[in-house]
Amino acid sequence: MIYLDNAATSFPKPPEVLEEMFETYSRMGVSPGRGSHDLAVRCEHYLQKVREEICDFFGGKSPDRVVFTSNSTDGLNTLILGLAEPGRHVVSTRLEHNSVLRPLYHLRDRGVIEFDLVGFNPEGFIDPRDIAERIRPSTGFVVLNHVSNVLGTIQPVAAVGRICRERGVPLVLDVSQSAGVVPIDMEAMKVDAVAFTGHKSLLGPTGIGGLVLREGLEVRPVRFGGSGGDSSNTRQPMDYPFRLEPGTANVLGIIGLSAAMRYVKREGIDTLHDREMALARALRDGLASLKGVKMYCAENLENHTGVITCNVDGLAPGDFAAILDGDFDIATRSGLHCAPLVHEDIGTSPRGAVRFSFGPFNKADDVSAVLFAVGEIARR
Ligand code: ALA
Repeated sequence: MIYLDNAATSFPKPPEVLEEMFETYSRMGVSPGRGSHDLAVRCEHYLQKVREEICDFFGGKSPDRVVFTSNSTDGLNTLILGLAEPGRHVVSTRLEHNSVLRPLYHLRDRGVIEFDLVGFNPEGFIDPRDIAERIRPSTGFVVLNHVSNVLGTIQPVAAVGRICRERGVPLVLDVSQSAGVVPIDMEAMKVDAVAFTGHKSLLGPTGIGGLVLREGLEVRPVRFGGSGGDSSNTRQPMDYPFRLEPGTANVLGIIGLSAAMRYVKREGIDTLHDREMALARALRDGLASLKGVKMYCAENLENHTGVITCNVDGLAPGDFAAILDGDFDIATRSGLHCAPLVHEDIGTSPRGAVRFSFGPFNKADDVSAVLFAVGEIARR
């Protein structure tokens, strides 16, 4: 099987990540910070070490402001619901995934907030000036997708960060598709919060992600429960990270995330990115020479990740992906990719398109196999 659905979940994982999960969890798979026995304390210290690694990875300043979540969706809900104050306004974009759109629409439907969504140009990039124009005195925060999961375009975050900082509006960044393949430095980019997941380009397991918050950004808790300390208090503790982390942590996932981040750092973010871009370029060039294939926002692959999205004339994307899978053993993702507004704007609604997304274990042969398969499908 040729796996080209790495933008959904990277697969396979580096073997050392899986080995470390087995080995460390076998020794230390207990409830961190719950109970004072040796193992619970060791596990809590281990989590603190991973918070430091994450903080360092994203250019944060305070490891206590690293919050473990289940994935980006979980983290983005925590941020959006926890930052939204009644009567405030939010600026976001039409590039967003449903993990941002749905919390925003939920809050608007309930009359809590208003929001504006900024569009993107035909190459798949937002213009930071459009964000600046939409910021009002009542704007509570801006939330932006770093890399579109449909188009693979890397957005000009530093320019948006400068605008937000000048206007005194916090910037929340969804780094689901960028963490692990695009360098992220929260301080340099003037980002106030990132929401990441472990299971995509960070090469970790599913079910673990997190937030990194800048000191001074206050997020109200939106879920409540045990934090392992201050147990006589029937209110959620207000100290970070426990304010936003009710319940026992996903220790197995955190072990995998830590091992995976070390793998990514050792290989090098730029090396991993260059490798997947070489494959994406080869696929783009090959598909461009096939009749009946239309690609979206892939003409210029500068500021891009290894994602190529396309359709074949006269063929529904679901059927295209099913033939790739059934006849050629090639795994892709078709449809709207949980980003309906992107597909509306590139003209592929309501059926969407087929997305090929590369990971570190893909090879040049995979591109040849896809080109052969798509060539056959288009010819038929
Ligand atoms: N958000 C993931 C994707 O783009 C699942 O496929």
